[in-house]
Amino acid sequence: MDYLEIEGGHKLNGSVTISGAKNSALAIIAATILSNKKVKLTNLPNVVDIRTMLKLLEMLGAKVEHNDTEAIIDCSTINSTKAVYEIVAQMRASILVLGPLLSRFKECSVSLPGGCAIGQRPIDLHIKAVEALGAEVTLKEGYVVAKAPEDGLVGNKIIFDKITVGGTENALMAAAMANGVTEIVNAAKEPEITQLAQMINLGGAKVEGIGTGNLKIYGTGGVALNFNEPIETIPDRIEAGTYLCVGAATYSTLTLDKVNVEHIQTTINKLEEMGCEFDIDKNSVTIKPAKKLKKVNIITSEYPGFPTDMQAQFMAVATIADEESLIEERLFENRFMHVSELNRLGADIWLKGNVAAIRPVKELNGATVMATDLRASSALVIAALSANGVTKVKRIYHLDRGYDKLEEKLSKIGAKIVRKKE
Ligand code: EPZ
Repeated sequence: MDYLEIEGGHKLNGSVTISGAKNSALAIIAATILSNKKVKLTNLPNVVDIRTMLKLLEMLGAKVEHNDTEAIIDCSTINSTKAVYEIVAQMRASILVLGPLLSRFKECSVSLPGGCAIGQRPIDLHIKAVEALGAEVTLKEGYVVAKAPEDGLVGNKIIFDKITVGGTENALMAAAMANGVTEIVNAAKEPEITQLAQMINLGGAKVEGIGTGNLKIYGTGGVALNFNEPIETIPDRIEAGTYLCVGAATYSTLTLDKVNVEHIQTTINKLEEMGCEFDIDKNSVTIKPAKKLKKVNIITSEYPGFPTDMQAQFMAVATIADEESLIEERLFENRFMHVSELNRLGADIWLKGNVAAIRPVKELNGATVMATDLRASSALVIAALSANGVTKVKRIYHLDRGYDKLEEKLSKIGAKIVRKKE
């Protein structure tokens, strides 16, 4: 297995180009199932999860041409509606084919996603959403088997008693080809939801309320959607936030290009609270280091609140702040796997339920640590870059799922980082 060897303690300098958003691209790829014509996707991040989702579509019978950052997908040739365990077990986001397959083919069976390091992550809200549109859903031998009414799904009101990104995405895609109007109440408002809603609107299923928690979708009544313009993935707000945390933790001045500043506003605000300063342009942002990092208090919440996907990265920065920081994780029940690994680097972090107290230490020191999930692994890289000496970050297959060319981008700004084989 690969691992990263990082020599920390160096100031970095220069600029990083942000890739397309993994979590937006995954939903966009699933939504191409709604069309029976070729669709061109651009600005895709070159990461494992994108390749896995494209492979899933090919296993369903779609034709896919894919280079690093672009794909041309033709779902007119889909001849199966079964998302098998082997693929779904690799990536939970495979569940995003449930809505579009039901909407276009009126039936599908999707393996229940396996467990996940950061929490149980049930899909009950996804199932309730499609049942509201008339689907009959049963669980059979580890598969969610769903069947739409003879004439297709029927528009209805879907009320999410809990905000769910994936649930909202499946509801949007199920409603797209349903008969009649669907209203989604308490919908997620993440930028990836907005991009997906815009794509469905472009494709011919009118969507109102885009960007709000109340969406209205006028389904096409069984007519396939037509995405006749290339769809460019929005910039990855979590990758951008991660590199801002790299700058903060190493007291470096870094510029990020190709960012959507509005999508990273809470991240910028929190780093300003920690003493960093920013120069902001239309599509780029420069972080200037704090004199001495100040403490930060964070409670994760749904967009536009503080993103749970940035929690681990901020914890890495807070380990060397001047006073105790508090971080409360409100979305997932087990998203503190990085705490014990950070403590191996000399951090002093204490957990009480879903609250972490990060007590200040003067500095971190290199050690061997193990990545446990995608964002935890980027937190370990941040800590390693700020630690004295050499750190080995193992099990970086987690990192490869969601960060495009991480070592290259870091080496370009002066980081001493090398990928090695066990
Ligand atoms: C998406 O996951 C992201 N993944 C996650 O990013 C992100 O952390 C999460 O949204 C929250 O922002 C992708 O977009 C591929 P949820 P998702 O449904 O859709 C509970 C990363 O690092 N819930 O909003 O699975 C769930 O257990 C990944 O890129 C139910 O109870 O998140 C969780 O506690 C990690 N029932 C909370 O809601 C359901 O049916 C939020 O989950 C669905 C979710």
